Amino acid sequence: MSGRNLKIAVLYDIWGDPASAEATPPKSAARRRNSSKKVEQEEKEDREEISEALAQLGHEPLYHVLDGSMQSLNSLCRCKADLIFNLTESFAGDDTKETNVAAYLDLVGIPYTGGGPHAHFLAQDKGLAKKMFAFHGIRTPYFATAYRGRIEHAHDISFPLIVKPISEDGSIGIDSNAVVHSVKELMERVEYIQDEFDSPALIEEYIEGREIYAAILGSYERAHSLPLVELDFSRMPKGLPKVATYDVKFEKGTQAHKLTKSEVAENLDDETISRLTETALAAYHAVKLRDYGRIDMRLSAQGEVYVIEANPNPWLASGHEFAMAARESGRTYTELIGEIVDMAMGRSAKIKARAKSSGV
Ligand SMILES: Nc1ncnc2c1ncn2[C@@H]1O[C@H](COP(=O)(O)OP(=O)(O)O)[C@@H](O)[C@H]1O
Ligand SMILES: [Mg+2]
Repeated sequence: MSGRNLKIAVLYDIWGDPASAEATPPKSAARRRNSSKKVEQEEKEDREEISEALAQLGHEPLYHVLDGSMQSLNSLCRCKADLIFNLTESFAGDDTKETNVAAYLDLVGIPYTGGGPHAHFLAQDKGLAKKMFAFHGIRTPYFATAYRGRIEHAHDISFPLIVKPISEDGSIGIDSNAVVHSVKELMERVEYIQDEFDSPALIEEYIEGREIYAAILGSYERAHSLPLVELDFSRMPKGLPKVATYDVKFEKGTQAHKLTKSEVAENLDDETISRLTETALAAYHAVKLRDYGRIDMRLSAQGEVYVIEANPNPWLASGHEFAMAARESGRTYTELIGEIVDMAMGRSAKIKARAKSSGV
């Protein structure tokens, strides 16, 4: 623990009118955040839990909202925080701009938690991330990308396939029709993704198997995996694909949500656990994550480990996968938040020391 009381700005983004966001299906993480308030009323927001943990650690937390305006960016530079706890997922409704928010914080020189711009850039384009995984010999499903008739890359892929937007998260655009079994279904789904998101479609081989998440804590050589978590699909209603759809993650009224749950992974032998954690760590480093990140994987019936995606700055809400893994490792939620703060402050101290020694 850094031993000094810090002024910490918990940074998050808001975009659009929450009332109208509820009336239309959310298309972006920013709108999901707003509209999901309706279903999460009884749950605290992650930012509230993080603020409470920071206060318990003796720090001085405050909220700073990025609402898409220049003013919200300018006032951030002037907020005199010692550290930004970065929870932003987008800027002005654009999910790809989390890269720019991190780059802006680097430019203005305020230390912040989690991934730098390079991590957000590499991870949020899932096609690009998969190319990085392939270079590092990390198994990821074969894929193709299609955008309005242009194929940017195509393996010789076989059905069943899953079609998703190339750079959304929170399972936006992933519903029970995302898994396709024929050329007709594939073409319809690609058209849906292009129309709905104005985004290239990522077409991936669908990997049947267990869904395992590795929460990774630490940076560079200190990164390590916390106990693995599994999303249990065994009670998923017949006829629905065993996929973490938007309903599974957020729509509390649906059967898909009620009958699936994440829990600490059981019944994995030591050899499989080490292959899963080693693969997750390799993926974490391949797309340059730091401080904390979550790697989503599938484990096939033949025991093959596939990386589905890498998430910089994953959701830290106390009831969700990352905090669950931290609890299983023996950490309290407050200790987890404290470790993330210490890592970011440690990095900033090193950068300052380097700058001083080189006379900058
Ligand atoms: N190739 C795949 N094979 C099997 N399931 C997949 C595959 N890709 C995605 N999924 C399912 O869809 C979910 C969401 O996909 P993911 O790429 O992680 O999107 P998001 O960034 O929205 O979380 C995964 O958690 C998994 O259940
Ligand atoms: Mg995911």
